[in-house]
Amino acid sequence: MNRNDNYLRDLFSLDGRTALVTGGSSGIGRAVAEALARAGASVVVVARTESSLDETVADLTGAGCRAARVSADLGSRAGVRAAADEAVEHFGEPDILVNCAGINLRPPMGELDDDVWDTTMSVNLDAPFLLGRRFGPGMAERGFGRIIHITSQQAHRAFVQSGAYGVSKGALESLARSQAEAWSPYGVTCNTLVPGFVMTPLNARLSSDPARVEALAARTMVGRNGLAEDFAGAAVFLASGASAYVTGQSIFVDGGFSVH
Ligand SMILES: NC(=O)c1ccc[n+]([C@@H]2O[C@H](COP(=O)([O-])OP(=O)(O)OC[C@H]3O[C@@H](n4cnc5c(N)ncnc54)[C@H](OP(=O)(O)O)[C@@H]3O)[C@@H](O)[C@H]2O)c1
Repeated sequence: MNRNDNYLRDLFSLDGRTALVTGGSSGIGRAVAEALARAGASVVVVARTESSLDETVADLTGAGCRAARVSADLGSRAGVRAAADEAVEHFGEPDILVNCAGINLRPPMGELDDDVWDTTMSVNLDAPFLLGRRFGPGMAERGFGRIIHITSQQAHRAFVQSGAYGVSKGALESLARSQAEAWSPYGVTCNTLVPGFVMTPLNARLSSDPARVEALAARTMVGRNGLAEDFAGAAVFLASGASAYVTGQSIFVDGGFSVH
């Protein structure tokens, strides 16, 4: 055993890997896409808004990374199918699937109508299931795969009208365990990253209230709210060979919020 310049590279490098990151054009997904790309993966980002997709790809390619984008609405089965078909045209079948696209609509429970329920489940739960079913078996056949879902503390506790959102995230963690059970024997690990409160566009309403922001920061152990870039290291770890024996897990990246 020697000190070896290639040690970290062998553990964590994503050279030669292909990744698909839904929601990769904003917030946590964008930070994860950037981290995977900088670690060597060819990354396809999927979201709806063309301008933010273009900007993301321009930033990544400008930094010397390999990146492409697919504009698709993951809120319908047809949209998910079209996104998957178009994504593989860029760099082939993905070795790494990150399900980060998500929405949080917050009507009071008694006013939560069919539309909010269906839309939430479609984007937050059905799309990750459909993409997993589309790509998981191929990963298993090739003997390597990484599926990473982004859930929420609301998978574990009620918080600010969790409503349909919390239910979708709880189910997503169950999906990760079912996928892990199915495909881990074939080299495909399936895990979730669990954010606390992260300052992103998703939270624009909450994060524009300084008193709320401060109160939430005080509930962490680290003493601040999350930033999208806090997810970079955990995402690279879960996407890399280093995490081969970590599967079916929910890993909290929340500054200690959940244990305080
Ligand atoms: N921020 C937090 O505090 C927090 C806490 C817990 C969990 N999370 C989870 O972390 C993930 C990322 O959230 P974020 O805070 O980074 O939010 P964000 O900045 O709002 O990003 C959401 C991403 O999802 C995409 N998206 C939304 N609906 C879509 C659809 N129907 N089809 C395709 N793409 C869609 C968005 O792009 P388009 O709008 O252009 O489609 C965007 O790229 C979500 O799953 C969220 O639930 C966030």
